[in-house]
Amino acid sequence: MLSAYPDLDAANLPAHVAIIMDGNGRWAKKRLLNRIKGHEQGTEAVRGIVRTCRELSISILTLYAFSTENWQRPKTEVAALMNLLKRFLESELEEMMNKDIRLNAIGEIERLPEDVRQMLQKTMKSTENNNSMLLNLALSYGGRAEIVRMVREISKKAKNGEIDPDSITSSIVSDHLYTRGMQDPDLLIRTSGEIRISNFLLWQVAYSEIFVTDTLWPDFGKDEFVRILKGYQQRERRFGKVEA
Ligand code: IPE
Ligand code: IPE
Ligand code: MG
Repeated sequence: MLSAYPDLDAANLPAHVAIIMDGNGRWAKKRLLNRIKGHEQGTEAVRGIVRTCRELSISILTLYAFSTENWQRPKTEVAALMNLLKRFLESELEEMMNKDIRLNAIGEIERLPEDVRQMLQKTMKSTENNNSMLLNLALSYGGRAEIVRMVREISKKAKNGEIDPDSITSSIVSDHLYTRGMQDPDLLIRTSGEIRISNFLLWQVAYSEIFVTDTLWPDFGKDEFVRILKGYQQRERRFGKVEA
């Protein structure tokens, strides 16, 4: 199955890869271009990584595309990002159908502009029976906001008597997050060299293997991804236990 990737052990690939796609602005700045050109080029990198993950039979790919904090960027940049997202959904539907990829969004979808939300809902509906890979887009996503939302939902259930506070477990917490039903990321990648989480999947990355690369997101391609996967395969995941 992995004949195209002889360096990789097919039995030890991450089931869930999460990526903080950072550096579009710096990519553009280096070329004296508008930041928006960087976001456009970043979309090409998204296409590439989705294809590679699908080829490798990775089950879940979660991409941090827009954070709750990113709303504070200039209006023109936010509008350009929303427009790009809509165009991406339009242009990728055929490929998602051909490759059996299901699209899902995590985050405050209700804050997205109406046309983008409609496109998103249409894409999620069209791809809902696709099973080979889940492409999870984090849109208006913030880990803290997600946790607040979970606390509110569980508190309401406790108040109604649906949940006994003493029997709340971490799996009940997980079931009230946007990622309910998905396993936690095995591998978290951040491009552009910043060594921080920036409010991404705070609960879910508890035991993810983290790789930070200096490569700017628009330059991130298959070869580097495969190198990171090789690095991942060399790590020993202990989950707090001692070596087996
Ligand atoms: C990532 O690139 C894309 C988003 C956060 C939407 P940036 O736009 O943050 O790029 P830099 O960090 O300014 O280079
Ligand atoms: C994180 O990148 C958010 C996304 C990639 C969507 P930012 O560029 O917003 O993060 P900071 O500001 O460097 O922490
Ligand atoms: Mg950034």
